[in-house]
Parts: sequence; structure tokens; C-alpha cells
Amino acid sequence: MYGNDFNAPDVAGDQGSQGAKSVVLNAAQTPEYDLAAAEGRTVDARREEAGHPSFDALIAADLRVEPRDDMPEAYRKTLIRQIAQHAHSEIIGMQPEGNWITRAPSLRRKAILIAKVQDEAGHGLYLYSAAETLGIDRAELLDMLHEGRQKYSSIFNYPTLTWADNGAIGWLVDGAAIMNQVPLCRCSYGPYSRAMIRVCKEESFHQRQGFEILWTLMRGTPEQQEMAQDAANRWWWPALAMFGPPDTGEAAQGGHTAQSMAWGIKRFSNDDLRQRFVDMTVPQAQRLGLTLPDPQLRWNAERGHWDFGEIDWDEFWRVLKGDGPCNAERIAHRRRAHDEGAWVREAATAYAAKQATRDAAEAAA
Ligand SMILES: [Fe+2]
Ligand SMILES: [Fe+2]
Repeated sequence: MYGNDFNAPDVAGDQGSQGAKSVVLNAAQTPEYDLAAAEGRTVDARREEAGHPSFDALIAADLRVEPRDDMPEAYRKTLIRQIAQHAHSEIIGMQPEGNWITRAPSLRRKAILIAKVQDEAGHGLYLYSAAETLGIDRAELLDMLHEGRQKYSSIFNYPTLTWADNGAIGWLVDGAAIMNQVPLCRCSYGPYSRAMIRVCKEESFHQRQGFEILWTLMRGTPEQQEMAQDAANRWWWPALAMFGPPDTGEAAQGGHTAQSMAWGIKRFSNDDLRQRFVDMTVPQAQRLGLTLPDPQLRWNAERGHWDFGEIDWDEFWRVLKGDGPCNAERIAHRRRAHDEGAWVREAATAYAAKQATRDAAEAAA
């Protein structure tokens, strides 16, 4: 223990532990995650026995498609776009919280935040590697990000104004990300699904540390409580928008959902996942003592779900298309980091070339 921090709410002996213990904090803590991880192992074994089925046979049998398999060009392109957007979101997502590393309120908080931000860099690396198995170079993907030809999650275009924002991001943004990613552990493309199994475990830690920041603030001074409430107010709606446009109604886009579902990339619709997230998060807000900024939020006993208000889709599209509070800043920062890292990439390339020459010489000798 360092400074004035407290035990995590799920640590026995802590005052609030009873309350937090009985709440499932995120989708990686549900049986669905364990099932997906176990199923993945048996699917890989079944695949070994299956020989070389066609793409359609693989999809029909719910087996994973691997890089060596023939696949339709549209499937390959869809996956490249999705995995690249995911990778870009991981590395751009380092910025809002990275902004607070030097100002974390204690050594313990600083150590946790550094680990969290570093994890996101690691997620980016897994995902760029997964994309490369589809025959594209990560340098090309990064160029597309820097030139605005590929997107990242619009949530990262909002600023982190106070320390409590790190709590709200972990709790809500990582929480929403996990809700999206647990079904991706069963995605039909092998390298992506395997990356997700590991990523979800780490995201679970991110979500819990965010919850714990807010838990601590909500048991602090009135000013700290106010700070936590203000952060929740600002991050709630953008977090709900993370699941993407609705499946039906005026704001629906048609999008890629139906095809992605037929290919076993996507397992649930945007609205289904959003509803699950709301249902899981409302009881947590109650335990925290936070009020979610939606007057229409109420339990619907008939549906067995929480009803919630309308998302501002105009704002979502505006921010996604570049007109959010931090879009320009995020890309400028990313490009600068990329330029400043050029010498590292050059050195690594030179080293790899030297090793290859040496290996070839040794093999010839
Ligand atoms: Fe991540
Ligand atoms: Fe995360």
C-alpha cells in the first residue's frame, strides 16, 4: 500500500467488499468467457482432424478459418478493416489516460495506470500481427490511420479532464469493449479469436481498476464524489455509442452486421450487446452511488431489461467523422510518436537483416 489508497473493493476485509463482491463487474467474468476459451481449444483440435475443408464447410461446421485457408476476398477485406480499426483504437486509446500518468495521485495509482496503458500498446501489437496474417503490412495500416483513411473508436476523441476520468474510462469504456470482445473470442478467424481470449483477460483488469478508482472517490470527500459523478456524466453516453449504430429504426445504417454474422465474425447485434452492457452496468452504478445521466433509465419488468433513452447519433457521426473535441490532437500526437520512433524501426530492420544474412551463411557452411 502506498500513500492514501485503499484496498480494492473485492479484497476481503475492505469496508465495501460485500457490496462489490456480489456484482459481476464485466463480461470477461461471465461463464460465456470461460466457455469461449475452452471451446477454442476443442475447435482447434477438431480442425486438425478435419484436413482441408472448404471455406464454406469451415463456416458451416463452426470451425476456425486459419491464414493458410482459401477465403473469399470480401471476408479477408472485412477482417482487415475490423482488426485494423480495433488495433488503431488500442493504440490511440493510450492517449487519454497516458495524459494522467505524471499526475496520478499516488505511486500505486501511477504503477497501475502505467501497466494499463502499456497493456493497450500490447493489444495493438497482437492485433496488428493478427491483421498481418491476412497479407497486409502493419506499416500500410498505420499510414491509413495517420492519413485518416481508417477509423478508430470515436470514444477516444473525448478529453480526460480530471483524475476521475481514468476511473470512468476503465469502468465504462473498457467495460463496453469487453462486452464487444467476449463474443469475438468465438470469431471464425483463428488468429483474431485467439488474440481476443488473452486481450479480454487483461481488459478485465482494466475495467476493475476503473471501478475501484470510482469506488474510492465515491467514499471520499464531497468534492471527490462530485468529480466522479461529473466523469460518469460525460462518459456514459459515448460509452453506449461505442456499440455502433442501432440495428433498426431511423439511425440504422445497414452496415456490415448481417454479412459479418453469416461469416461467424460477429455473434450478436449492436443493440443486443448495448442492452447487455446497460443491464450489467446499472447495478454497478447503484453500488458505486453514481447517478447515470439518463432520466429515461428504468427497469422494465416485462422485458426483463433496463430501458434507456435515445443516443445522440448526430454527435456520434460528427465525432467519428473528425469533428470531436480531440480528433486533431490525437492524430497529431500519433504521427509525432510514429516519426520519433523511426530510428527504432530502422534499427530493428537492420538487425533482422543482419541476423538473416548470418543465418543464411551458417546454413550454407
Ligand atoms: Fe485494450
Ligand atoms: Fe483496456
